[in-house]
Amino acid sequence: SQGLDVVVFDKGRSAGGRMSSKRTADGYLDFGAQYFTARSQAFQYQCQQWLAQGAISAWTSQLAVYSNNMLQASPDNITRYIGQPSMHMPVQQLLQRIKTVLNCCVDSINFDGKRWQLYCQQQQLGSFSQLIFAVPQQQAATLLASFSPLAPKLQAVFATPALSPCWAADIQLSNTVSLPYDGIFVKTTMPVTWLARQASKPRRAQAAHWLVHFSSVFSQAQLDVESQHLVSVAVEALEQVLSQKLSVLAARCHRWRYAQQAPDYPQYGFFYQPDLALGLCGDWLNGGRVENAWLSGHDLAQAISG
Ligand code: NAI
Repeated sequence: SQGLDVVVFDKGRSAGGRMSSKRTADGYLDFGAQYFTARSQAFQYQCQQWLAQGAISAWTSQLAVYSNNMLQASPDNITRYIGQPSMHMPVQQLLQRIKTVLNCCVDSINFDGKRWQLYCQQQQLGSFSQLIFAVPQQQAATLLASFSPLAPKLQAVFATPALSPCWAADIQLSNTVSLPYDGIFVKTTMPVTWLARQASKPRRAQAAHWLVHFSSVFSQAQLDVESQHLVSVAVEALEQVLSQKLSVLAARCHRWRYAQQAPDYPQYGFFYQPDLALGLCGDWLNGGRVENAWLSGHDLAQAISG
């Protein structure tokens, strides 16, 4: 917060968006961000702090790639982190430095030439000297629709879609699969792109849950698919990749409407226009990924504080 008086509004039960885990009777399940890596020095330093606070831990995983109908080990030396005990935790740590975090949905905004007024169901939530959006492109675009003519660069930022949907499914099997892999990148034309064994993650559900992410092409085309159909596609894919018949105990699905980075969307890093007292940050402006989301916010904060 750089000494500034910051108020955070978030419509979710807790802030963090795709950095979240679902609490179930079996324990936490990661439907959104599966893990994150730290390649920049600044984010590596942040991860060291989170490690020291116990907010994250390393996920030591055996990874594989499925392509050309073959499943093959694909080890590497990158450290992959997960939040502890859930993906929320690193975000929670960041919010501890913020005095006011309000759980409400901002549904309209106004700029009086100097300050921004925020509203929820016509009730004013406050008047602020700067307005920062850390939300998906579409949600920022909707709230800012009448203000984008004031900022030509904002129109460019909203011109093409940055994020596409991602269906996620948790498939609980009646017994554990004997397979040496914890995470599988599917690199072939299939409806799914990623399979992960939840029990391989420290402090996640230890029963036989497999988390499946669907491709953006499939998710876009099947945006309103029945969950029953989605589950059958997920199980079919699991059976093909794991090369065995599976017995499903339970399943649940989650649709992320704005999740996966469009590969052709430009990397703006962040958006800031001082005369409009307006900033935008998020993974979608900075190439996707958790680290890039953090860097986007970090760089915007530096631009604001000059
Ligand atoms: P990362 O560096 O592990 O992964 C980046 C990409 O590199 C992977 O998607 C995969 O295609 C490839 N890759 C990484 N390790 C590999 C290995 N051992 N063998 C073969 N290919 C490998 O992690 P990063 O960049 O920090 O991203 C985190 C993860 O979150 C990625 O897997 C990414 O695909 C996923 N993600 C998923 C989204 C969704 O909505 N489903 C949205 C954004 C990211």
